[in-house]
Amino acid sequence: MITVGIEDISFASGSCVLDLKDLAQDLDVDVEKYHQGLGQDCMSVPAEDEDIVTMAAMAAAPLVARYPPGSFRTLLFATETGIDNSKSAGIYVHQLLNMSKNCRVVELKQACYSATAALQLAASYVQCHSEEKVLVIASDIARYEPRSKAEPTQGCGAIAFVIGSDPKIVRLEKPAGLYTEDVMDFWRPLYQDVGFVDGKFSAKVYLQALKACWKDLQDRFGIKAMDFQLFCYHLPFTRMAVKAHQYLLQDNLVDRDPQAELAKLEPSLVYSRQVGNCYSAAAYLGLLSLLENSHEDLTNQKLALFSYGSGCVGEILTATVMPGYQKYLHKRQHEEGLKARRLVNIEEYRRLLYTMAPKDGSPIQYPHVTPGRYRLSGIVEHKRIYETFVSAQ
Ligand code: HMG
Repeated sequence: MITVGIEDISFASGSCVLDLKDLAQDLDVDVEKYHQGLGQDCMSVPAEDEDIVTMAAMAAAPLVARYPPGSFRTLLFATETGIDNSKSAGIYVHQLLNMSKNCRVVELKQACYSATAALQLAASYVQCHSEEKVLVIASDIARYEPRSKAEPTQGCGAIAFVIGSDPKIVRLEKPAGLYTEDVMDFWRPLYQDVGFVDGKFSAKVYLQALKACWKDLQDRFGIKAMDFQLFCYHLPFTRMAVKAHQYLLQDNLVDRDPQAELAKLEPSLVYSRQVGNCYSAAAYLGLLSLLENSHEDLTNQKLALFSYGSGCVGEILTATVMPGYQKYLHKRQHEEGLKARRLVNIEEYRRLLYTMAPKDGSPIQYPHVTPGRYRLSGIVEHKRIYETFVSAQ
């Protein structure tokens, strides 16, 4: 078996941000409900000319630039917020990043879970083709009904990884705990722009899936939670991960100090508190946050990452942090990206998030507002038109 894992990882989000204090005020809710009850401070919001493609291109561009041309013959694009029922959003990214045409590109869907499927498929592929690298991108914009209880749990962002046989950051391990069940906790029919969600039920199913994945990991591979030092969770809101970890502490990590364990989880929540739910990218934003914000050296520590996608599929992916991983992280770039977001008020946020593209084919041009390199300039004859700018970020 050759070693396979994450060689490089990068994140980008929408260029606007809403402070949840403003949402709390608008909805006449105590802001502590959001800060403490949900564990969220802000949510990233896409500008008019940003979407899952432009965020994905922003996230993946630095990775593609660090590899020789033609390095990627496979691009897997994970998303819940696909822009076309047929064409993969990854093809637009492939074009924007000027990648080699000798490449396969495909989109994967299963709510927030699909990035994990993409990662596992990429890892298995590299096992057979160790000289190749796979570019995996997860990009999403979370949208619920305005003024609903779910509104504070929105957000947007994209994560990109290079999966290859020289995993400088994290080595992916074979054992995985799996669970699938047909449930209606969150879903979005093709005609619907915002998700339907049974919020309390979804949190319950998330925990049930977590429990079932641990059981599968133990039954199939003889692996227990005690074998891991690091834990990351899918992050619809950061308090969900705290609850998931508390559940684990009660049932599986009984010998560990709960306070120390929860403190160790904290670095994985830092970015998500600022960004919100970015669906398929959310669990991996947690991983990135853990690696970049932990003060401890995590080298050789064993990681269990719980990925959850409503509907539902759960998976515990297992991995080991590689020696020297710190050298390959881009913490400053990520922090600066988050700091540079433009603060929007409640009216502007609602306009940006809920103004959907015309569905009748009438042409639309978007104003050039993104500070990013890639933008959606318009939709003409039902075709999305993207542009690249050399001078920006
Ligand atoms: P809600 O009904 O508004 O919240 O909806 P609540 O009343 O249950 O309050 C939330 C917490 O805040 C509670 O804490 C309150 O006590 C606390 P808990 O009891 O849970 O520990 N609270 C306060 N704390 C401090 N000061 C206060 C205060 N007031 C209340 N003044 C809900 C919350 C998450 C259900 C809603 O926002 C929602 O429906 N969100 C969307 C669904 C979701 O995120 N589900 C998570 C699991 S499913 C999943 O992760 C998949 C998903 O990402 C989609 C996909 O897979 O594609 C969603």
